[in-house]
Amino acid sequence: MTEIAFHLNGTPVRASAADPARTLLDWLREERGLKGTKEGCNEGDCGACTVMVTDAGGVRALNACILLLPQLHGRAVRTVEGISGPGGALHPVQQAMVDHHGSQCGFCTPGFIASMAVGHLNGRRDHDDVLAGNLCRCTGYAPIVRAAEAAAPAPVPEWMHDATGAIGADGPAPYAPASTDALAAWCLEHPGGSLIAGATDVGLWVTKELRPLGPVAFLHAARDLQSIARVPGGLRIGAGVTIAALRMAMAGPHPAFAGLLRRFASEQIRAAATIGGNIANGSPIGDGPPALIAMGARLHLRRGEARRDMPLEAFFLDYRKQDRQPGEFVEAVTVPEAAPGLRCYKLSKRFDQDISAVCGCFNLGLEGGKIASARIAFGGMAGIPKRAAAVEAALIGRAWSLATLEAALPAFAEDFAPLSDMRASAGYRLAAAQNLLLRYFHDLSGEAVSVLELRA
Ligand SMILES: Cc1cc2nc3c(=O)[nH]c(=O)nc-3n(C[C@H](O)[C@H](O)[C@H](O)COP(=O)(O)OP(=O)(O)OC[C@H]3O[C@@H](n4cnc5c(N)ncnc54)[C@H](O)[C@@H]3O)c2cc1C
Ligand code: FES
Ligand code: FES
Repeated sequence: MTEIAFHLNGTPVRASAADPARTLLDWLREERGLKGTKEGCNEGDCGACTVMVTDAGGVRALNACILLLPQLHGRAVRTVEGISGPGGALHPVQQAMVDHHGSQCGFCTPGFIASMAVGHLNGRRDHDDVLAGNLCRCTGYAPIVRAAEAAAPAPVPEWMHDATGAIGADGPAPYAPASTDALAAWCLEHPGGSLIAGATDVGLWVTKELRPLGPVAFLHAARDLQSIARVPGGLRIGAGVTIAALRMAMAGPHPAFAGLLRRFASEQIRAAATIGGNIANGSPIGDGPPALIAMGARLHLRRGEARRDMPLEAFFLDYRKQDRQPGEFVEAVTVPEAAPGLRCYKLSKRFDQDISAVCGCFNLGLEGGKIASARIAFGGMAGIPKRAAAVEAALIGRAWSLATLEAALPAFAEDFAPLSDMRASAGYRLAAAQNLLLRYFHDLSGEAVSVLELRA
């Protein structure tokens, strides 16, 4: 029988992983009767199902509704039932929620408590970011953030320290090749199989589409797929690097990209989602690809021992159609060490935890007052993440001035014929994309372009 082993609220447990698509949330509620972890949206949006997960990489908050059981092998999970101490002693974040009236109906509260406890343990003070993946419909966020601020100086209770290392696991993770080589062999043997990295997309195939996955391979045990390495001419980012880890790694060399990744979904999703999954899913509204294309990234694909690479934009052929052969997978993406002209602008209805209506990424090279090079890419403007070739051509060789940029605006209609959907109309998308080019000029000229704060 296929089993996984992990720690649950401090105690070693085993669970059947006969169905690799079983979610942690269902298992907790149905098999263990641990109903403190709530089901709200069942698609990673609301945070009601947040749990704390510890492994050698640290402690993070994850959404149990799209966390599949095999992803837990060898890790430690703490649910809201395990956040209070022996004899029911309240954790500092729980006490602070009581003191600051942070709960009304209480449905969201266990998820908030789990996110707050992880933030507290990790010494975080950016409470808005930590809590952006938790939705509260009745209390309002001010009392909750006040509670997080009040709890921050308190020491981490003894019982919250889960052991790391070989937590309860005495065998290899089922369904999870232990190296990239093993993964490559699995893919050759199962060309029609499903790869699962963070499961932030695949989890929804399970919970929303009830889609059978067929043979599966999880990528999390292939640790060599999770490295970021300096290579000649750039940085090679393994496909298994999470968005959270990428955001940290990009803060120095590519602050504009790191800033965009801060707005990628939420804390819980970024802790699970990988850059490989973001590229491989071929979504026209993914946030990673436009930025990477504007940076001039190269994609590295692997099939068995055969490897090939290409400019990232060449990978996206048509709506949800990528240049990937059966048995081939994304191994890495390489970006330049620096791209000082890069700016990334995400337009969505909400600052956090929202998919882009339009994501525009600009990277112009200026020499002697002229535009010497141009790489511009958009998400949300076509069936694929796409370069603005006509706009680029209208800019290269011309003077760096607002007049040049304004003269290039009609070229957007040559590059893009966007769709209308619930996120934005075609007209809005086209006008917004044009305005982003003008914003880029003002941004590079040192003017304040953030529209987040209105000042009298
Ligand atoms: C609530 C929520 C909010 C989100 N917000 C955003 C957002 O703001 N911006 C954004 O861009 N995306 C967003 N997403 C989408 C998703 O999080 C990203 O696309 C994420 O990067 C997918 O990565 P993953 O590791 O979870 O992929 P998975 O779900 O594991 O896999 C996605 C697809 O890629 C394939 N795959 C994974 N890794 C590889 C590989 N190495 N080689 C080949 N194929 C592979 C899988 O088979 C599958 O087809 C959101 C999702 C949710 C649930
Ligand atoms: S139930 Fe909403 S994020 Fe899991
Ligand atoms: S207290 Fe009711 S949803 Fe937050």
